[in-house]
Amino acid sequence: MNFLVVVGTVREQRRSIHAARKAVEVLSEKGYGAELFDPAEKEIPFLGTRRYTDSGDPPEDVEEFGQKVEESDGVVLVTPEYNHSIPGALKNLLDYLYPEYEDKPFSYVTVSAGGFGGVRALDHLQDITLALNAEPGPHLPISNVRDVFDEEGELIDESYEERFEDFVEEAVEHAGKSQ
Ligand SMILES: Cc1cc2nc3c(=O)[nH]c(=O)nc-3n(C[C@H](O)[C@H](O)[C@H](O)COP(=O)(O)O)c2cc1C
Repeated sequence: MNFLVVVGTVREQRRSIHAARKAVEVLSEKGYGAELFDPAEKEIPFLGTRRYTDSGDPPEDVEEFGQKVEESDGVVLVTPEYNHSIPGALKNLLDYLYPEYEDKPFSYVTVSAGGFGGVRALDHLQDITLALNAEPGPHLPISNVRDVFDEEGELIDESYEERFEDFVEEAVEHAGKSQ
């Protein structure tokens, strides 16, 4: 089973990247395919041409994103909450595709510096996922992210080892049900 792990922000010094890398690590340790898609390493302009449904050629990195979504058995979105929603970068990236998401199992890791773990971003992600005709699935909230990962991305709150493992098991189960 192969998962595409998408990080939702391109902000410099973003902490969410550590959670995305951890999700890839735990999936890989458990023997699943896991690839990180990091929009900060790609060129994703504001939506001009959707991949399939509009005329014209999509940007190269959007084409790559579309292919990777299609090939994956599940998508894991790892994102901070920005102003009670998801980052614009993630919304813009998601908007590029539509038929590619049909019945695709989605799981979510939401990240915040405060105590709510990005639950308001989760609300919006669930609505967006439904609008995309995909399958919303399990969620791992990460509160107080500065106490969970250090600046280098090392896990410093060991309780999250088990939380990531449980989340990965749930994501795998969810993806299995949808196949
Ligand atoms: C533009 C912006 C808006 C934010 N809005 C929220 C918010 O609505 N709720 C929240 O819990 N944290 C908010 N935060 C703080 C993030 O939780 C914090 O930056 C955390 O480290 C996760 O985001 P990161 O991956 O960008 O580091 C915001 C941060 C930024 C940069």
